[in-house]
Amino acid sequence: MSKITVTDLNGKPREIEAEVGLSLMEVIRDNDFDDLAAICGGCCSCCTCHVFVDENWADKLPPREEDEESLLEDSDHYDAALSRLSCQVEFDDSMDGLKVTIAPEG
Ligand code: FES
Repeated sequence: MSKITVTDLNGKPREIEAEVGLSLMEVIRDNDFDDLAAICGGCCSCCTCHVFVDENWADKLPPREEDEESLLEDSDHYDAALSRLSCQVEFDDSMDGLKVTIAPEG
């Protein structure tokens, strides 16, 4: 089983197991991170699953689609290099060791 490290809004990192085929949002949500609301359930319409990808990983993930990009650009915390909607990233084995930080809402 692959592992990822998720840092919560208090800056506390935790390593969790990640199942291939789930979205990154589902992996994080299923591990009880309350900081990730994901209120639209993965429909790419809320931006409450926003995470910052570790800079060493940003180029290794599949690129953002247009919908994801435009939602993120509206966020107060948008980072052009590191922001992702975690519901739009499907986890696979190539992401073993990935590090992400949950972004503040807004
Ligand atoms: S869960 Fe709503 S955009 Fe990702």
